[in-house]
Amino acid sequence: VRKGLIITIDGPAGVGKSTVSKALAGKLSYLYLDTGAIYRAVAYRLHSLGITESDEELLKFFFEKTKITLDNSVSHLRIFMDNEEVTDKIRTEEIGFAASRVSAVPIVRAALLKIQRDMGLKGSVVVEGRDMGTVVFPDADVKFFLQASESVRTRRRYDELIMRGEVVDYKKLSENMAVRDKQDQERTIAPLRPHPDAFMIDSSGISVSEVVNRMLDVIEGHLNRK
Ligand code: DC
Repeated sequence: VRKGLIITIDGPAGVGKSTVSKALAGKLSYLYLDTGAIYRAVAYRLHSLGITESDEELLKFFFEKTKITLDNSVSHLRIFMDNEEVTDKIRTEEIGFAASRVSAVPIVRAALLKIQRDMGLKGSVVVEGRDMGTVVFPDADVKFFLQASESVRTRRRYDELIMRGEVVDYKKLSENMAVRDKQDQERTIAPLRPHPDAFMIDSSGISVSEVVNRMLDVIEGHLNRK
């Protein structure tokens, strides 16, 4: 496949976006950009500074003063807030939840929009998040929206957290994920929803490689039409 495209993958928590995006980017030798990680890094830092999402003035000050650095030169995205590397500290479900809350604040979304666009607009990239196709890269070449049943998504996230060594209560996780998705879908700014042009893929009963193969077919079709 020729280089240069911007490919977006949106969808709710636990749908397999990261796994699929990484695999697809690998197949295409593209860069992979995990935008959820940026929201998580901000949530992590705000939490440790004791700044809540209702502190508008403090939030503005925070984004003026904080240097957010993304390093995509290795196989995964490394994130630094000022000089602290937060890459491995942001993967808990607690931070995911905090990221969802913080991400509903317009100041936060505005501050992160440019960072995401700067990285993505160079092309040859698979970008993953909630509003990639609708807001951040509305002119992307190929857009996907991943879906999966709630039970499949909870199970996937549960297994992922257990693998990381976290202590997880399945029922609580399931409730948390439902609240988080509702929050992401119902916020006024950049809510989670498929772009009308997005290819919908339900990953419930199919393997990662099958999802990736379907995506490659769509991309191939796109290139042949051009
Ligand atoms: O994909 P994730 O679980 O790492 O994302 C964490 C939260 O960040 C998610 O619940 C909502 C927010 N987010 C967002 O609002 N927009 C994005 N493009 C990516 C994530």
